[in-house]
Amino acid sequence: MLTTETKNEILAELAHSETNRMACIEALKIAQREHGWVSDEDLCEVARLLDLTPDEVDGVATFYNLIRRRPVGRNVILLCASVSCWVMGYVQLRARLLQVLGVELGQTTEDGRFTVLENQCLGACDHAPALMINDDLYHDVDPEQLGDILAKYA
Ligand code: FES
Repeated sequence: MLTTETKNEILAELAHSETNRMACIEALKIAQREHGWVSDEDLCEVARLLDLTPDEVDGVATFYNLIRRRPVGRNVILLCASVSCWVMGYVQLRARLLQVLGVELGQTTEDGRFTVLENQCLGACDHAPALMINDDLYHDVDPEQLGDILAKYA
């Protein structure tokens, strides 16, 4: 269930949008901030606030890859798998990251601390390889730096 504060934020977003559909992605991003993902219940609440059907909102949620429809860990790692990162060491970075965390892509660590997701271009192609943890972008990532990077997140 969304908090009153979140609902008000969604309604404020709606007030600034030309159409309800245009507010949908931002509304879902706002809703996602509460738990790190959007449950069916929250999605229906977003739909109600935007006067759209749940199917319409779910269509947007599943199309937009930064909206998560399944539970995630406290911190979400987006690992770029696009061409520049691939060429500049994605495979080694992925192998080290998954080894350090003891998970496969798409999984969450046993302690719920991290979820690792693959992502297309994070906009740091000229400083590949890149990954993002929550809202923090890391570029020119050396697999040996991962320990220090991950230590910043509880
Ligand atoms: S290809 Fe990885 S950030 Fe663009």
